[in-house]
Amino acid sequence: MRAVHIVDSGAPEEVLEIRELPRPDPGPGQVTVAVRACALQHADVFARVGHPEIEESFPKRPGTEIAGVVDEVGDGVEGWSPGDRVNVYHHVSCGECEFCERGEQTMCPHDRKLGSDFPGGLAEYVEVPAANLEAVPDHVEMTTAAAWPSSFTTAWRMLVSGGGLEPSETALILGASGGVGHAALQLADRIGAEVYATTSADWKAERAAAWAEAVIDYTETPFDEAVTELTDGRGVDLVADHVGEETWQRSIDSLATGGRMVICGATSGADPDIDIRSVYQRHRRILGTPMGSRQDFRDVGRLIARGEVSPVVDRVLPLDRVAEGHRAIENREVFGKVVVTPQE
Ligand SMILES: NC(=O)c1ccc[n+]([C@@H]2O[C@H](COP(=O)([O-])OP(=O)(O)OC[C@H]3O[C@@H](n4cnc5c(N)ncnc54)[C@H](OP(=O)(O)O)[C@@H]3O)[C@@H](O)[C@H]2O)c1
Ligand SMILES: [Zn+2]
Repeated sequence: MRAVHIVDSGAPEEVLEIRELPRPDPGPGQVTVAVRACALQHADVFARVGHPEIEESFPKRPGTEIAGVVDEVGDGVEGWSPGDRVNVYHHVSCGECEFCERGEQTMCPHDRKLGSDFPGGLAEYVEVPAANLEAVPDHVEMTTAAAWPSSFTTAWRMLVSGGGLEPSETALILGASGGVGHAALQLADRIGAEVYATTSADWKAERAAAWAEAVIDYTETPFDEAVTELTDGRGVDLVADHVGEETWQRSIDSLATGGRMVICGATSGADPDIDIRSVYQRHRRILGTPMGSRQDFRDVGRLIARGEVSPVVDRVLPLDRVAEGHRAIENREVFGKVVVTPQE
């Protein structure tokens, strides 16, 4: 089978290689999934160019947002058969620690991920634990099914199970064109909150406007000033920030008194220069929400199956054009998700 490998740091055309490997045989409790679609995310770019949160060891076999069809089941697997259409939750935790016992798999000290600690889904086949599968209904396209597992689950944690956004509240979603950003935007709108968004280009603002009261182009106006004006000086109840260093102070300054900033990433850097008085003097809170639990994954999957929110597939590429996807994400030319179809 063919599988993408990141063999070094560097330009995508130079360091993304397709290698021929044996198709994996499922071990006990495992399932081999024929990958019909696997989405890229910013972590794929970090895995290639380097990032403080990602270890520098090559080659890597990336791919965390996986949709496909069960190909073969290992010993002891019940409830799944070849041909079943599935999504994969990509965190593999110990199942025994205090965090796993309370259903917080991503807090597990032994938590490991498909696509970084285990071979990922940018391959024709991938081996995954049967416990990590959820069914994909027939009416959901495989490319759509691949466009949400991590981004929407993270956004759900940011807004709902972590951030507790209520219908009567206001929310500001940064980087609304991104994988997490466009998910957070749609979920905030679905909850019924009044939603503001930031983005960096007119064409992206036009798309984001479908789910937002107002879209702020932060390349033209400092977004905290725009929020202050839009909310008559009050600020918003929740800011979803996955950008990091470049935006932290403005995000904090966009909050109402008592508001909360939910964070899941540091795309622009992890070392913000902030005035801590702007947090404590206004009773504001900063909450880490790096990814959702297995239950968050199930919950948001149901909304997608019912069409209540819709992951946006910006483009679909075959495996041998994965470098184009990396380039597009890096150049910020995407609204929503880039999806790769390994079997085409
Ligand atoms: N994708 C996931 O499932 C996931 C899960 C957990 C954590 N995270 C973290 O969340 C962050 C975003 O991930 P993603 O996959 O959603 O990325 P993405 O699809 O590449 O979206 C990032 C968006 O952030 C905005 N942005 C603002 N400042 C930026 C800068 N300096 N560099 C790059 N983009 C900038 C851009 O949107 P505008 O042009 O609209 O401003 C861009 O489209 C990453 O730090 C990632 O590690 C992601
Ligand atoms: Zn555990």
